[in-house]
Amino acid sequence: MAITTCIFDAYGTLFDVSSAARQAAEEDGFEALADLWPRLAADWRDRQLQYTWLRTIAGAHVDFWQITGDALDWALEAAGLQGRADLRERLMALYWELGAYPEVADMLDALKSAGLATGILSNGSPEMLAGAVKSAGIARNLDHVLSVESVGVFKPARAVYDMVGRSFDCEPGEVLFVSSNGWDAAGAAGYGFRTAWVNRAGAPVDRLHARPDLELADLTTIPEVAARA
Ligand code: 2OP
Repeated sequence: MAITTCIFDAYGTLFDVSSAARQAAEEDGFEALADLWPRLAADWRDRQLQYTWLRTIAGAHVDFWQITGDALDWALEAAGLQGRADLRERLMALYWELGAYPEVADMLDALKSAGLATGILSNGSPEMLAGAVKSAGIARNLDHVLSVESVGVFKPARAVYDMVGRSFDCEPGEVLFVSSNGWDAAGAAGYGFRTAWVNRAGAPVDRLHARPDLELADLTTIPEVAARA
């Protein structure tokens, strides 16, 4: 079955989640982050993801903006920076307008030129996804930006992946799902999507119920992958 639809995870895949802490560390007033920012960014992301899974299991959903703030509070306290309300405010503002990876705009242009349907399927709230898409300037090359807020659970619940077929009127086998999160790629592969795992960090593959169909170093070759899949 030919690929008709390319669906992207947002945070970590299209948008560089480390860029908020990295950028703040370079700004006046936030010198405390100079050596700490890589650890803070990693803790922030780890807690953010853990909270999505734990809240889904517990049936205690809140949106991803709340989760992102809660995770940042944990990471700031772990770094001894819990009193820095100015830093918290700046990091959250930067998260709203995260930078996209450099290859994203050209890759989406190529997919649209080839006539494919494109979209985002993300844990992000509709508002924060709109902010990131706008600041990256990629709205015109996305047919739908789908947020889990429509179903009230986080990935990798199947109810989230179900949203793609409803919005794009396609079969799972026509979808190339692209994620940098190994667990999300596994969830999507188990669901029945064709999957590409973008493994920028060279991490080992996740030992879960399914494995991605292919592993890529970045997003550059997605248009070729979609054409030949
Ligand atoms: C996303 O859904 C998991 O952060 C990831 O965008």
